[in-house]
Amino acid sequence: MADMMWAGRFSKKIDKTVNDFNSSISFDGRMYKHDIMGSIAHATMLGDCNIISKEDSIKIINGLNSILSDIENSSLQLDPSAEDIHMFIEAELTKRLGDVGKRLHTARSRNDQVAVDIRLYLRDEIAEIRKLLKELAVTLYNIALEHTETIMPGYTHLQRAQPITFAHHILAYVHMLIRDMGRIDDTEKRMNYCPLGSGALAGTTYKTSRQQTSDLLGFTAPMANSLDGVSDRDFCVELCSALSLIMTHLSRFSEEIIMWCSWEFKFVELDDAYATGSSIMPQKKNPDVTELIRGKTGRVNGDLVTLLTMLKGLPLAYNKDMQEDKEAIFDAIDNVKLCLKTFIPMLATMRVLKDNMRNAAARGFINATDCADYLVKKGMPFRDAYKITGSLVAYCIEKGLTLETLSIDEYKKMTELFDNDVYDAINLETCVRERKSEGGPSPDAVKYQLEIVKKALDL
Ligand code: ARG
Repeated sequence: MADMMWAGRFSKKIDKTVNDFNSSISFDGRMYKHDIMGSIAHATMLGDCNIISKEDSIKIINGLNSILSDIENSSLQLDPSAEDIHMFIEAELTKRLGDVGKRLHTARSRNDQVAVDIRLYLRDEIAEIRKLLKELAVTLYNIALEHTETIMPGYTHLQRAQPITFAHHILAYVHMLIRDMGRIDDTEKRMNYCPLGSGALAGTTYKTSRQQTSDLLGFTAPMANSLDGVSDRDFCVELCSALSLIMTHLSRFSEEIIMWCSWEFKFVELDDAYATGSSIMPQKKNPDVTELIRGKTGRVNGDLVTLLTMLKGLPLAYNKDMQEDKEAIFDAIDNVKLCLKTFIPMLATMRVLKDNMRNAAARGFINATDCADYLVKKGMPFRDAYKITGSLVAYCIEKGLTLETLSIDEYKKMTELFDNDVYDAINLETCVRERKSEGGPSPDAVKYQLEIVKKALDL
C-alpha cells in the first residue's frame, strides 16, 4: 500500500482493514472521467488566475488527459487499495509529473471535488435516462397509434368496469413517463450549480475564479454558500425519488403485463426472446422481465431511504457518511437503466391479442352504466336508472344472459322507457365511441390525446 497523501500528520501506516473499510474506489472509480474533467477546469483556472504558472497548468492538463486516455484504453488500471478515485488520479499525476502534479490540489479540497464530480456524473446519467424514457414513451405512442379502435375492459378494483380502448390504456402510462421526464429535468436544473471553490468548507484565501470553473464545466452558476456547496446532497435524494417514481410506474405496468400474460386474461403474448421457461413445467412461458422490474422497484425505494437516512442527522459540513451516497444513487441509476433497456424492446415486440380483449369486454356487464345512461336520456333520474339496471344485471346473471341477449319484453317489464334502440345504446362499439369527453377513451378523444402526447414528446 502506498503512503497516504495525508501521511504527514501520522506516525503509523493505516490499518489494512480500516483502509479497505474507508476506501471508496471500488464504487467511485466509475467517476474517473468526471474527476478528470473537474481537475482540468480547476487547473485551467489556477493557471489563468496566476495561482500556479501557465506552464504548470498546461503540464497538469496534459497529464490529466493522458491519464484519461490510459484509463480508457485499459493501459492504466485503477488501484483497488487507493482511498478513492480523487486520490488515485492525483497520485498518478504526481507519479507522472513529479512536483508539478502536487500543485493541482491548490485551493481545492476533496470535499468540493467530490461534490462537483457527482454532479457531473449524474448530469450524464440523467441525460441517458431521459433518452431511455423518451424511447419508451415513443414505443408506447406507436402501440397506441395502432390500437385506437381496440376495445378492452377498463377495470376498477380489478373488476371489469367500463369499456375503453387499448390505446387509451397505454397512453395513461405515456403521461406518467412525460411527468417522469419533467421530474428529472427539474432535478437537473436544481443540481446544475457548481460547488468547486467551496474548498473543505470555508472557501479559500487564494484569488480564484469560481465563475470560470463553473462556466468551463457547464454549470449555471457557482453555488452561493461554501458550506452548502460541500454538504448538499439534496440532488441525490431528488434524483432517487424521481427514479423511485419511474420504477413505480414501470412496476405497475409490469404487474398489468404479468396479468395480461396469464391464461385468465391472455390479452398479450410476449415475444419468445423476452420470456423464460420453467425447469420442470414444459408448458410454461413466464414474464420474468416484468417480475424483475416489479422486484427491483423495492430496491430503488431502498436506495432512496438509504440517502434520506444518511443525510438526516449530519451536521454541516462534510462528514464521511456522505460517501454512502454513491452506492445508493449508482444502484438506483443502474437498475432503472437496466429495466428501461429491457422493457423497451419487450414492449416493442409484444403481441396484442385484440380478440381476447374484445371477448373479455363482452362479458362482465361493462355496458351497465351505458344502460342506465340510456334511461337517463329518456328522462329517468340517474339513481332510479341505476337501480333498475342493477336489477337487470342480477336477473341476467341468474338466467345466464347478458344485457345484449336479454329480450326487449324482459327489458320492458322493468320500465316502458326501454325500446329497441337500447341494443344500440349498449353496443360496446357505441359505448366506447360515445365516451368522447375530454381525456376519454373514444377513438376521437384518443386521437386528440395522441396529438397532445406527440407535442409533449417533440415528435
Ligand atoms: N471518497 C470521499 C467521498 O466519497 C471523498 C471525500 C473525502 N473527503 C474527506 N474529507 N475525507 O465522500
